[in-house]
Amino acid sequence: MPAAEAPSQRLFFALWPQPELARSLHGLALRVAAKSGGRVMARDTLHLTLAFLGEVAGSRLEDLKEAAHRAPKPAAFELRLDRAGYWRHNRILWVGPAAPPPALKNLAAGLAASLGEAGFSLEARPFQAHMTLIRKSADPMPLLLPDLPPWPVEEMVLVSSRLTAHGPRYRAITRWPLAAAG
Ligand code: 2AM
Repeated sequence: MPAAEAPSQRLFFALWPQPELARSLHGLALRVAAKSGGRVMARDTLHLTLAFLGEVAGSRLEDLKEAAHRAPKPAAFELRLDRAGYWRHNRILWVGPAAPPPALKNLAAGLAASLGEAGFSLEARPFQAHMTLIRKSADPMPLLLPDLPPWPVEEMVLVSSRLTAHGPRYRAITRWPLAAAG
């Protein structure tokens, strides 16, 4: 009997903040949402997406991991989440780097190129480094962003997302460490 085919999964590559930073960000989101409403992202779901694939056939998972493995990766770097923004079109309140460092841009671009070469089609929406804090938020601007601790980015993660009635459930599938900063 042929082996059952692995089911497709909704996948994306992301950076996941360490628990301490996630705690600060979640606290900030709760304070903002107390005024602007909306659905605060759960603390352990906070992330910054590098590349969003959508549904990927189970049979392509190994190819995907190999493409991610081949992608050029910068050494570990620091990210400062020093800008808050609000998108009216999808009512997302987010934080991100005011000036994304070259390492972040190179990581996202290198990954996108490697995935493209392996035949994976990415969303056409250009890379916009952001971390969603609140969905369905009212416009809270101007928002004074407190000084957040710098984020030592040390790995990239491939994550599966399962949509449930209680929001998305994320699961890390594979992690790629970045080389120690020199
Ligand atoms: P968002 O927070 O701005 O919605 C899992 O859904 C992650 O992938 C989220 O970070 C989400 O970004 C991002 N994402 C979802 N749909 C996407 C799309 N069509 N293009 C790019 N990123 C997407």
